[in-house]
Amino acid sequence: MSATGTATMRGLIAVVTGAGSGIGLATARLLAAEGVRVFGFDLREGEMAGAAEWIPCDVGDSESVTRAMAQVADASDRLDIVINNAGIGAIGSIEAATDEEWASVLNVNVVGLSRVTAAALPMLRRSAAAAVVNTCSVAAAVGLPERAVYTASKGAVQALTMAMAADYLREGIRVNCVNPGTADTPWVSRLLDQADDPVAERSALEKRQPTGRLVSADEVASAICFLAHPRQAAITGTVLAVDGGMHSLRIRAE
Ligand SMILES: NC(=O)c1ccc[n+]([C@@H]2O[C@H](COP(=O)([O-])OP(=O)(O)OC[C@H]3O[C@@H](n4cnc5c(N)ncnc54)[C@H](O)[C@@H]3O)[C@@H](O)[C@H]2O)c1
Repeated sequence: MSATGTATMRGLIAVVTGAGSGIGLATARLLAAEGVRVFGFDLREGEMAGAAEWIPCDVGDSESVTRAMAQVADASDRLDIVINNAGIGAIGSIEAATDEEWASVLNVNVVGLSRVTAAALPMLRRSAAAAVVNTCSVAAAVGLPERAVYTASKGAVQALTMAMAADYLREGIRVNCVNPGTADTPWVSRLLDQADDPVAERSALEKRQPTGRLVSADEVASAICFLAHPRQAAITGTVLAVDGGMHSLRIRAE
């Protein structure tokens, strides 16, 4: 890892998980606009055409991840960037959580990230600009009601980001995460659709953020791309909040 002030992203190769929708899609588009070749690992192609090459992949399944990474290796001898973004949610307190839900959310959100990165390591090691960025959540840092299982998974993602950053530091592989606040993506639209009063629910979510609005997928993608950029050669083992101040500010109600 060394200072690379003039480095650009042009010509780099990236894997973005969950690239078919929301934050992953916005990240794939931003990376592509920077001249990065993007492979999108997702259950479905979604809207990634034109930004990423879809490789069908379930990050919750080891064989699927191995197959998907082999496809990347067939297409490129090098991989520079891994964006571990695919994730699933869960609503409720610990009383509502079933063993199946615990297993599935931890498997996708935590083990999935580990699986994809471990499979990518042989190729990342051949890169001079290796960077991993994990999509974590403000939930890793603050207690949100009715999000017990999801929050536990994101707390693990944040801790795992630090452990991975330490493990691969000497090999020049940087590992960081972003912690978005509530972001305006299809995920949140689906949640709002389930609410008794979606308009009131959206307004409550907006008010929960000091900025009074939801974070956009593009804003999170921009932070992810910042961390992935080879110019940030000195940044590893950090959490970048993209949450409109939700984690750190206490603003008086007007
Ligand atoms: N939207 C928010 O408010 C918010 C806030 C904080 C963190 N996040 C995190 O951001 C990430 C992306 O969320 P989003 O809001 O863009 O969601 P989204 O539902 O719009 O997109 C998620 C994508 O991940 C894919 N995916 C789901 N399970 C997968 C699996 N097993 N294998 C491969 N792909 C899979 C989906 O098909 C989808 O394309 C998640 O990790 C989420 O926890 C979201």
